[in-house]
Amino acid sequence: MHLSSLLLCCALSLGALVKCAAGSEWCYNGCEYTPSHWADIPGVFCGENRQSPIDIVTANVQTDPQLLNFNFLNFSSQHVFKSIKNNGHTVKCILEDNEVEVSGGGLDGTYSIIQFHFHWGITELHPGSEHMIDGHRYPMEMHIVSLKKGLSEQNATDDSEGIAVLGFFINATDDGDMSGPWNEFISSLPQKDKEVDINATISIDDLIGNVNLTKFYRYKGSLTTPSCNETVVWTVFQEPINIHKQLVQMFPIMAGFINVYRPTQPLNGRDVFASPGTPLPPSHSWCYEDEPCEYKPSHWHLLPHSECGGKSQSPINIETRETVSDEHLDAFTYTKFDDKHAIMHITNTGHSVKCVLKEDTVEVSGGGLGYVYSTLQFHFHWGSENSDGSEHKVDSKRYPMEMHIVNKRKDLTLEKALETPNGLAVLGFLIEAKDAHNSNSERETHPTSDIDPWKKLTSYISAIRNISSEVHVTDGISIDDLLGSVNRVEYYRYNGSLTTPSCNEAVVWTVFKESVKVDENLMMMFPTLAGYHNVYRPTQSLHNRIIYTTTSASSAPVPTILLLLACLCAFSYNLHL
Ligand SMILES: *[C@@H]1O[C@H](CO)[C@@H](O)[C@H](O)[C@H]1NC(C)=O
Ligand SMILES: *[C@@H]1O[C@H](CO)[C@@H](O)[C@H](O)[C@H]1NC(C)=O
Ligand SMILES: *[C@@H]1O[C@H](CO)[C@@H](O)[C@H](O)[C@H]1NC(C)=O
Ligand SMILES: *[C@@H]1O[C@H](CO)[C@@H](O)[C@H](O)[C@H]1NC(C)=O
Ligand SMILES: [Zn+2]
Ligand SMILES: [Zn+2]
Repeated sequence: MHLSSLLLCCALSLGALVKCAAGSEWCYNGCEYTPSHWADIPGVFCGENRQSPIDIVTANVQTDPQLLNFNFLNFSSQHVFKSIKNNGHTVKCILEDNEVEVSGGGLDGTYSIIQFHFHWGITELHPGSEHMIDGHRYPMEMHIVSLKKGLSEQNATDDSEGIAVLGFFINATDDGDMSGPWNEFISSLPQKDKEVDINATISIDDLIGNVNLTKFYRYKGSLTTPSCNETVVWTVFQEPINIHKQLVQMFPIMAGFINVYRPTQPLNGRDVFASPGTPLPPSHSWCYEDEPCEYKPSHWHLLPHSECGGKSQSPINIETRETVSDEHLDAFTYTKFDDKHAIMHITNTGHSVKCVLKEDTVEVSGGGLGYVYSTLQFHFHWGSENSDGSEHKVDSKRYPMEMHIVNKRKDLTLEKALETPNGLAVLGFLIEAKDAHNSNSERETHPTSDIDPWKKLTSYISAIRNISSEVHVTDGISIDDLLGSVNRVEYYRYNGSLTTPSCNEAVVWTVFKESVKVDENLMMMFPTLAGYHNVYRPTQSLHNRIIYTTTSASSAPVPTILLLLACLCAFSYNLHL
């Protein structure tokens, strides 16, 4: 017998077939080899790089469209449970050979299920699931263990995907069935070192209950007990099995031991994926001041890869008396700002409402920028029903809203642009309420559009009330329509950053002096329909930066020149500022 298979058999979890001859004893507590010392056991893999369990940080999880539905064979059969064994580390239900299978769910082929077992703590006072979700540990976890069909236990540990484990969290509830299949199952749990045949008529489906089996996470990891072989394709279902807390409490009592779970292990750069049906948070775990989350603006600098603590951050308060005139700040050239079909879709990012433009269509140049920039998207910052929410302030005045038109240097990829001091150019427009008595509309440059373009735009917000949802724009709305007659020649200029994490200091900022005027009721649609408010970052220190301003000489309107430039490149992007 090889050393590895000897250790594996000692170790556990897979089978009950081979009796363990000798080898190092491991445990969860009260012996030499507790989890932090498992790696010291000769011949094990517990100190390697793809270990399980892990904390699943949903903000870092990526959706994988390949993770389609599972196919389960004989999960509803009431004749597949063979025996239950208590090996001192867990209680394990051994299944009839070659009866129960799982395939699909993004697994590579069919896997034969051999057993399932449990991990627990001490009742709900000290939860004992192995995996965690965003730092939350459930009371228990069930592992359904399967081997790639045709492989022996030994061969399965030689294949990096030889074993598939289906992990289910178990949640303790105050109410629920006290006499159903879980009661029957727990009542038959044997004492330490005992094995009992099971004569109950229970199926795996009876235990899983109504957990949604299309919502799951996937990553590559290991067995969670020595030898910790790195041969496991993990599936962790998002929804827990809810069972009555009195039944959860029975587990340690029946089994005779507590706290049988391994602490979470480092991810070491591994990817964690989610099936398409699994709800994920809109982006990262950052938020604005009014929302509950781990990283509010004052803590954004602690986020991974964050530049939010840098010395050229945005937004800022623009002290107009301190600004310096710069005659190089000439007029902009706007390309396709009048294209009524350039807006592809509108999406609710969970932090803003963002209008994504067709690739390589809209452009901006001139304005002292020195480069041609491709317009990627525009989005909004707002306050609440009774407070203003622009990001930039002018002479300490905050405006009701702010619109950001985000542009990327055309000669750079987005990745490169984010690392280049002028890789991005953002045009910021402050937004104020239209004065109802002052018939401003006569000045509008597009009298042909009889419906207010802002009315058209805001009408889409009700279709994206769910975070991460998007809607295609079918009405003709151009950026020119939205900007109306606002003066686009007078502006402030400074070097700054993105105003959301990672706050890359890659932005040449333009803040226009005149505000865009929008009907107050339409402005209210943003906080009301999106469901969140005060989505703006507080102003940041200037740190010796100079704010430049267009000279008053250039304030005379300059005719708009439309310049059609060849589209040279195609990028995909999804940038929120
Ligand atoms: C498992 O499924 C197969 C195919 O449906 C069936 O023939 C067999 O009887 C099932 N086994 C058990 C134990 O239910
Ligand atoms: C877990 O159980 C608690 C207590 O009954 C309940 O409030 C909570 O919603 C449950 N969690 C899930 C994800 O079902
Ligand atoms: C939002 O999500 C819920 C639940 O998934 C769905 O029923 C509803 O139709 C969605 N609403 C919109 C506007 O998409
Ligand atoms: C922005 O920074 C660049 C150097 O990276 C400098 O040449 C330019 O003058 C700065 N512009 C402003 C408006 O401060
Ligand atoms: Zn396990
Ligand atoms: Zn913004």
